[in-house]
Formats: sequence, structure tokens, C-alpha cells
Amino acid sequence: ATAGKVIKCKAAVAWGPKQPLTIEDIEVAPPKAHEVRVKIVATGICRSDDHVLSGAISDMKFPAILGHEGAGIVESVGEGVKNIKPGDKVIPLFVPQCGECRCCTNVRSNLCDKHDIGPYRGLMLDNTNRFTCKGNPVYTFLSTSTFTEYTVLDEICVAKIDDNAPLDKVCLIGCGFSTGYGSAVKIAKVEQGSSCAVFGLGGVGLSVLIGCKVAGASKIIGVDTNSDKFAKAKELGATECINPNDYNEPIHEVLAKISDGGLDYTFECIGNTKVMESALKATHFGCGTSVIVGLAPASARVSVDPMEMLTGRTLKGALFGGWKSRDEVPQLVADFLAKKFELDGLITHRSTLDKINEGFDLLRKGDSIRTILQI
Ligand code: APR
Ligand code: ZN
Ligand code: ZN
Repeated sequence: ATAGKVIKCKAAVAWGPKQPLTIEDIEVAPPKAHEVRVKIVATGICRSDDHVLSGAISDMKFPAILGHEGAGIVESVGEGVKNIKPGDKVIPLFVPQCGECRCCTNVRSNLCDKHDIGPYRGLMLDNTNRFTCKGNPVYTFLSTSTFTEYTVLDEICVAKIDDNAPLDKVCLIGCGFSTGYGSAVKIAKVEQGSSCAVFGLGGVGLSVLIGCKVAGASKIIGVDTNSDKFAKAKELGATECINPNDYNEPIHEVLAKISDGGLDYTFECIGNTKVMESALKATHFGCGTSVIVGLAPASARVSVDPMEMLTGRTLKGALFGGWKSRDEVPQLVADFLAKKFELDGLITHRSTLDKINEGFDLLRKGDSIRTILQI
């Protein structure tokens, strides 16, 4: 009944850095050709949303509707949309998959030329917008915008998922979980019996840890300066946890002593370049791999001794855990339904859209892993 018409609904609108979001009545235009309008059912609040509000992401356009870790149900589709129909359960994708560009056609990459990961357009692929508030245009964020009852997505930014998927859990597959889990199983390619260290035990680090465990690593060391993070890490698969503040020696030397000279795989899940350097040093010469997962400030630089590389270490990184989004998100959901991994351990709080600012406060204070908003 709403197809083809403008939908009036609620959304949390961001007006600029350091300003609280406000719940507004907005208008959502119908999807144009090759677009899909989705009723968002649940969304996580991710660190990257907060990077926009803190001002760490500086080239953002306002007002905007943030949120990029959601799940919902298709309300209507534009002309030419194939394989997605009203009623389908979907996950919005902040890394598109057009299937035709240089990266999409390369099996080793999961990026896509059609991305809006920055510098931000804040618009649909046709360079127009679908949201207005009080008559003024509102920008989209990361091609997704999930802090709203309805959003419009380019079809290359939509993964159709299993009808049985619980949207209030699998929304995490839209960002945080997949980023960490893929960094372990797809980017590092952690093997059975290997040794791993995960630096930073927030939502991303815990998701890496889940990946190391599913891959069969026999030693999984959690590293965090906050020992309060250890209990949950052990629950999710860490075999031991270490606080760098408890030692005088550099942390890579401490780790070398308990890992036969160095680890097979290390992961930096903080966004701190000094920790990225330690994580590389903590890998074993000749065979170790370190993966950068955390987002460092724009001007930050990592310093590497070329000998560390010459002697056979590998340093890598990826967005969204290296998953080709449209192809592999449905499979991740299927793996979740088959109980290959759990998501409950990552969900510490549940709330509603009108309490979104409290959700951000929990994240900033480090009191939450993930808050899921029921929309
Ligand atoms: N050494 C070890 N642990 C540290 C250090 C340090 N020097 N500094 C911070 N930590 C720990 C914190 O105590 C916290 O437990 O790192 C963890 C980071 O977790 P969160 O802040 O919850 O971050 P998360 O949401 O997991 O994201 C991590 O990934 O996507 C990016 O932008 C995101 O850069 C961020 C990173
Ligand atoms: Zn995210
Ligand atoms: Zn592409």
C-alpha cells in the first residue's frame, strides 16, 4: 500500500559533530530504478558512527542519517531490481558489490569502485537523495543509513538473507562481527593448531577471537589494557589474557616468551599505530602474519623495520573482514543459523531508536560491546 508513495516516518538525524542526534519526522522517497526501500527492524551502534559524531571523520556532510549495521525487510523495489522482492529479509551493505569493477572482478579483493566510504558523497549512486526533513535534504551515510524506520538502498548495497534469520542478532553481520571474524578466517586464514594474539577486546577484537576459535587455533591470547575485558574474552574463546600494564618489558617480548618465539597470527583491533607495530613484532619471523583491523586516525603512520618483513613476516589489512558483501553475507547468516558461531556474546544492551543517544554514551564510556536498537 505504501509502494510508489513517499513514506513519512521517524529517524535519528545527526546535525553535526558533538551534537546529540534528534528524533525527527522525515520523508523517505520511493526507490528509483535499481533501488530498494527497506523497513529497518534492528541496528547496532558501531564505533564508526561515533567517529562521525566525534569529528574524527571530518569530511562528512550534515544533516545525515547515520547507522550502517542494520537488518530489515524490503518494503518495495524500484524498476529493474532482480532477485529482491517486498517481504525479503535483507542486510544493508556499506561495502557494495557491483560485480563489474576492477576489485569486484578480482577474487582477492572485496572492495568496489561504487563505494561511499569517503570522501563522502552522502547520496545514492545517481547523486540524488531520498531523505528530507522539514523540506530540507538529508544525507545518507556509508550507502546504508540504518537509524531510521525506512531507508533506501542501491541494489548493489543489499544482501538478501534467509527468511528464518533473527534480524535483531544478524544485524551485527552488517559490520562489527563480519569485520573481526573475516579478519581471522579470511584475511589471516588462521589454521587448526595455530597461535594467535588479539590486541583490543572490544566488539571487533572479540569477533576476531570467535574467528580464531572457529578456525581451530590452539592458543588464543587476548591483550587489553583493561583487565575487565578478560572474562568475556575467555568466555568467547581466549585461552589466556594479558594486560601490557602488568609488565616492564615490551608486550611483544612477553608474548614471544609464551608462544615459542612468536605468534602465527596477530590482530590489532584498537586503531593505535604503536600497537600495530607491537603486533607485527609479536609474530614469529619466517611465518608470522599481522592483520590491521582497527581504524587509526587519518594522519597516523606505522613505522616498520624492513628486516621484519625481509625475514618473512606479513602485514595485511582489510575492510569488512575481506568478505565480498553481496555474495558472502548471506552465507555468513546461514553459518550463524547453522550454529557455526554465536552472536549473543557481543550483544550487551538492547534499546529503542528514541534512546539512541544513551546507546552512544554507553559506547563512549566503554560500558557496552554492542547496543542493538529495535526500530
Ligand atoms: N593496548 C591494549 N588494549 C588497548 C589499548 C592498548 N594500548 N588501548 C585500548 N585498548 C583496548 C580498550 O581497553 C578496549 O577494550 O582496546 C579495546 C578497544 O575496544 P572498543 O573501544 O570497544 O573498540 P571496537 O568497537 O572493538 O573497535 C576497535 O576497530 O572498527 C575499528 O573504529 C574501530 O578503531 C576501532 C577498532
Ligand atoms: Zn561499523
Ligand atoms: Zn564493484
